[in-house]
Amino acid sequence: MVKKLKTGVLISGGGSNLQALIDAATDDSFPAQISCVISNKAGVYGLSRAEQAGIPSFVVPHKGIERDVFEKSIDDLLQQNGIDIICLAGFMRILSADFITKWQGRILNIHPALLPKFGGKGMYGHHVHEAVIESGEQESGASVHVVTAGCDEGPVILQKAVPVLDGDTPETLAARVLEVEHDIYPHALSQYAALMSRKTS
Ligand code: GAR
Repeated sequence: MVKKLKTGVLISGGGSNLQALIDAATDDSFPAQISCVISNKAGVYGLSRAEQAGIPSFVVPHKGIERDVFEKSIDDLLQQNGIDIICLAGFMRILSADFITKWQGRILNIHPALLPKFGGKGMYGHHVHEAVIESGEQESGASVHVVTAGCDEGPVILQKAVPVLDGDTPETLAARVLEVEHDIYPHALSQYAALMSRKTS
């Protein structure tokens, strides 16, 4: 039986990447377990996915809350749930350098483009796909990377490309990219968790 790293997943929406991680983690040989889900938005479908899987889930609203208070609430929940590693899965808040330093090397993110292209502040969700189409790029894709203080700048663990097709809209491109996100995020978490476990054992 492999030692499973306790993973906290941060979401803001539908949570299809969360679902891909939950499904992968049901395999006995997967080196991580999804131990808690935190959303900054109430009522999102990702929270129902957590509930259906029997995973503790929490809402930490960000609106009208100081960032350090918001992040302290998240950090407290992660500590209380014994979390080893954080996966950002469609989490639409930028974390502070203080938070990232505290969790250094223990936060992964999935981004819907081939980083370092189309990353950084303002590049999230549909904005990314709009920019890719606008630029005339012939391919896009998804990247899983380690989170560092520079937004979307941390080392890439896994990437997979998809073609940008004539007549693509941000929605059709997003759907094609999302499919590869679901493929690479579990693989990236598996690789990274196995590496972390070896380092700490
Ligand atoms: C995904 O496409 C993810 O890559 C993107 O939000 C979507 C969330 O979908 N994240 C970002 O743009 C972060 N910069 P999901 O809630 O169905 O997983």
